[in-house]
Amino acid sequence: MPSPLPVGILGLGYHLPSKVLTNLDLEKIVETTDEWIRSRTGISQRRIAADGEVTSDLAAAAAKGALAQAGLKPTDLDLILVATMTPDMPCPATACIVQEKLGAPQAAATDVAAACSGFLYGLVIGKQFVASGTYRHVLVIGAEVLSRVVDWTDRSTCVLFGDGAGAALLGPTTQGEILSTHLGSDGRGAGLLKVPAGGAAQPASEESVRARAHYLKMNGTEVFKHAVRAMADACHQAIDKAGIRPEQVACVVPHQANIRIIEAVVERAGIPLSKVYLNVDRYGNMSAASTIVAFCEAVRDGRVKKGDYALLVAFGAGLTWGSCVIRW
Ligand code: UT7
Repeated sequence: MPSPLPVGILGLGYHLPSKVLTNLDLEKIVETTDEWIRSRTGISQRRIAADGEVTSDLAAAAAKGALAQAGLKPTDLDLILVATMTPDMPCPATACIVQEKLGAPQAAATDVAAACSGFLYGLVIGKQFVASGTYRHVLVIGAEVLSRVVDWTDRSTCVLFGDGAGAALLGPTTQGEILSTHLGSDGRGAGLLKVPAGGAAQPASEESVRARAHYLKMNGTEVFKHAVRAMADACHQAIDKAGIRPEQVACVVPHQANIRIIEAVVERAGIPLSKVYLNVDRYGNMSAASTIVAFCEAVRDGRVKKGDYALLVAFGAGLTWGSCVIRW
């Protein structure tokens, strides 16, 4: 078997809807306060897609940024992966709609369903195709319009989420090389975070709509505990597999669900909070888009410089988790 090719990042891009929803705006929608939201989560505001703006729109805009940065055309793409828990519709895959919007007719396209860990799952799947020489250019996108699946009458969830998209274009290069990866899942926790209706288990019906079963439900406290444990372990796994020490990590880019989760994770991983890139205050939890948007901003802001080791780590419904070390 030929030895695997190095796989790195040729281009990054992200896109956020322009509408900002602040905690003060939320005070007018549900019984909550800016103080509660900021102290319990670290979130001050989030972006909300415009009427008619869908996941594939945000994904295609992010993809165009990654293509431009890589100096490639849509027709250079071999595979498009869209990680999302808010697809435009249950079928077909949002990746196929993105393919059409980009004009990439020769590419294969499919979605990745791993909720907030979806971008890292997509990155690992895409990496295999490039490493094996099967495909040269794989576009991995994390994109969400969570504002359409959150229950705007449920204060325990609606304050947490936001909309956005980020993309990374993978190719056979040592530039931005993905040195190590780690994925995990635990289906015993499948009930802790879910959108119960709209699938085969509970098809759409008048009753399911009345029961608000098409909206996201979460046992926040349980998810919190699992998130801290799994993400801290995932940090160690990726660092060990990369053959580096925690102190060599220049920047940690975690899934941005809650500042308290992030603080607990890096403390367990033995990495100071000063090395963590944070945007949870500005965007809230964008599920599959969170980690990649944060990575794009960390690179843009010079928090990840050439030659630096960056650690990406995520956790989400499933339960699922993932991590990777990138040498930028
Ligand atoms: O993306 C991966 C998946 N998601 C996550 O990682 C999220 C994980 N979970 C969390 O981040 C936290 O559990 C939450 C932020 C969701 C909740 O924070 P918490 O500290 O676990 O609060 P809690 O759920 O225990 O609620 C504490 C109190 C409750 O009132 P009582 O029962 O003590 O009287 C809630 O009813 O806070 C109340 N509460 C609120 N109060 C004001 C819940 N939501 C709100 C709200 N505003 N928005």
